[in-house]
Amino acid sequence: MRSLSRLKQNLRAALAEPFVRVVVAKTAGGGDRVLEVDEAAAGEGAADALVAAATAAVRDGFVKVTVLRADGARVVLDARHGGAREIPAVSEDKRMAGKARGLRPDDNGPLLRLLGIANADGTISAQNAKKYKQASHLVELLRPAWVTAIARGVSEEAPLRVLDLACGNAYLSFVLADALRAAGVPFRLHGVDARDDLVLRCRERAEAFGLPGLSFSLSTIAEAGNLADPLGGTPDLVLALHACDRATDEAIRCAHELGAVSMFIVPCCQAELATQIRRARSGPTPAFRHGNLLREHAATLTDAMRVDWLEAQGWSVDVVEFVDAGHTPKNRLLRCARVRDTDESALAAWVTRCEELHARPTALG
Ligand SMILES: C[S@@+](CC[C@H](N)C(=O)[O-])C[C@H]1O[C@@H](n2cnc3c(N)ncnc32)[C@H](O)[C@@H]1O
Repeated sequence: MRSLSRLKQNLRAALAEPFVRVVVAKTAGGGDRVLEVDEAAAGEGAADALVAAATAAVRDGFVKVTVLRADGARVVLDARHGGAREIPAVSEDKRMAGKARGLRPDDNGPLLRLLGIANADGTISAQNAKKYKQASHLVELLRPAWVTAIARGVSEEAPLRVLDLACGNAYLSFVLADALRAAGVPFRLHGVDARDDLVLRCRERAEAFGLPGLSFSLSTIAEAGNLADPLGGTPDLVLALHACDRATDEAIRCAHELGAVSMFIVPCCQAELATQIRRARSGPTPAFRHGNLLREHAATLTDAMRVDWLEAQGWSVDVVEFVDAGHTPKNRLLRCARVRDTDESALAAWVTRCEELHARPTALG
């Protein structure tokens, strides 16, 4: 096959320059596989071994072969015609459109690949670019909280303690852990989720990435027991990102009862109050019989009731959009810091308001 011999010739030429790795892909951005060179074949035979491995991969249906060169350039070969295209190195500043992001494809490349945000060839697909921007932006938003915590004097004995409730794949926790490690901040970070496959994956990734300060447990938030134990003390920071429906309230209550110093809450889908309002046939106008209006109203009301409850419990709360709505419509962030004791009369007023509105986030009490 002429295309295959052309591909081999071009690949050999690309491998003549110092390179970092060779990646084969079935389609752009999907099904990547990194070609490993056996230790024994390194040195003189490395290029031969890689050409043989790439040839085998092409016979298996892979079409794109990318050589990541040591100078940052990429040579992309197409198995359908054997041609090669060199893509010059792009400075990270240019790639990030001049924006300072907490997460950089160059500094954090191994982590981004481990989390599946970056492809093996270093590119970030359009789909994952949203995840990358969200995680990167959130790390920056978190920075003041962790800087304040550091100011209280963190050490190996008293590390920064972070709890990630309903952590899922724990993207933010991994990114935060990488940033803390890079900044030399001693930390303990514990994630909790109700899905065993996700907890297992997080544990495997923490081990693969060599992050000893990270641990994960399988539980609902409400049944997790004393989460200060795995952290070795009261959390400085509690995260709950897109924890489904009542899980957000479980997280708020848990953070409050643990005596956490700050929390970052990004609410998710909300069904509980919509159901209560529908059953009670309440709501400020009969137009809320329309499901779409009721859902929107109940979602906003739920967050407002959360803010009221938090403020009554002694927290200051900022309500901000943490990322453009084009990234995710669920982009409301409650940024909370504990500033005073509970105001019992404000809490009693909260309960009365719940009764009047026939709407109460039950996990908050
Ligand atoms: C939409 S995902 C968000 C995951 C992660 N925080 C993120 O932002 O990528 C919601 C997660 O909440 C978990 N979850 C739902 N209810 C929970 C509960 N009551 N306790 C603990 N985890 C819960 C689910 O298993 C799922 O992993």
